[in-house]
Amino acid sequence: MLTMKDIVRDNEASLREKSKPVELPPSKETKDTLNKMLEFLLNSQDDDIAEKYNLRPGVGIAAPQIGINEQLTVVHFDYDDKLYSYKLINPKIISHSVELAYLAGGEGCLSVDDDYEGYVLRYARITIKAFDENGEPLKLRFRGYPAIVLQHEIDHLNGILFYDHINKENPFAAPESAKEIN
Ligand code: NI
Repeated sequence: MLTMKDIVRDNEASLREKSKPVELPPSKETKDTLNKMLEFLLNSQDDDIAEKYNLRPGVGIAAPQIGINEQLTVVHFDYDDKLYSYKLINPKIISHSVELAYLAGGEGCLSVDDDYEGYVLRYARITIKAFDENGEPLKLRFRGYPAIVLQHEIDHLNGILFYDHINKENPFAAPESAKEIN
């Protein structure tokens, strides 16, 4: 199983690289990687396991965070009584709202040990094209918190970290039209 020592931190250059597209149909190795990533998230959200192995809770993880620079990400969380659990291959945002949104409490990341305060402005709604673990095409729409999580993870595939988006001069600047999510 993956533990925090397997998580690539933001002082490592590989986290800043662009990840390669994954060949389809997905290989056994790709499926194993996706399963390992989901297992980490599930473990990290289980109080007993997380305490035992010192895991920080996570709702999403991208392959470069475990040292694999390929376009793979997994998310797993409940929001508004709905489960969002996806293993995604080659995810791409194909359209997005003009409206922006941000988490009132800012964002965090398994790869970032320091606190970075400030708003991360993201699109309030996105449509993603991706492939599932069987290589079947997916088209998914997300809004609000789930849209923010997916944008955070897809950023990882482009070497971008959440704090890159924080306004250096005014970390809590946000246009009035942007939606605050609590
Ligand atoms: Ni992250």
